[in-house]
Amino acid sequence: MGADLERVLLTEDRILARIDDLAQQIWADYEGKDVLLVGVLKGAVMVMSDLMRAMPGTAPMDWMAISSYGSGTKSSGVVRILKDLDSDISGRHVLIVEDIVDSGLTLSWLRSNLASRGAASVEICALMRKPDASKVDVDVRYVGFDIPNEFVVGYGLDYAERYRNLRDVVTLAPHVYT
Ligand code: IMP
Repeated sequence: MGADLERVLLTEDRILARIDDLAQQIWADYEGKDVLLVGVLKGAVMVMSDLMRAMPGTAPMDWMAISSYGSGTKSSGVVRILKDLDSDISGRHVLIVEDIVDSGLTLSWLRSNLASRGAASVEICALMRKPDASKVDVDVRYVGFDIPNEFVVGYGLDYAERYRNLRDVVTLAPHVYT
């Protein structure tokens, strides 16, 4: 492992096993409902592709790209849409697929934005949740792993666009971002 990477937090095998559980649970919860999976670019690309392939049937997907203003590794909750959905979500059940919830500000903004478009329901599935997420009242229905308050990369998550390709989730050495 390079000097900037510290330790493996979640192995690919563990991630895939957990995503498999979540996919079964989601499929059962949405039985008989038309659910639209909404991925948040770019961090959620791996979660989305593994989650949808683990589902017993087909669910359509769409993507949003948002930028959360912030400094360094912290978001501010002030969000700008860089790419909007292709689909009209009014009356539809939306499941946001996200990589990680940290402060929860990004997701709480996104959830109310999608709800204001008349979605029948908006729920969240996040692979990881950090302890700070409890400070904002954002209800994440499907959580893969509760992780410590460290900056992580890999499995789609980046630091300055690097490390998204790692198969495991790895902690970044604090000297890189502090
Ligand atoms: P929040 O608004 O503080 O919850 O920030 C959520 C967003 O910040 C995520 O979608 C990620 O893009 C980014 N983020 C938060 N923590 C990490 C991390 O540990 N590694 C990589 N990106 C992170």
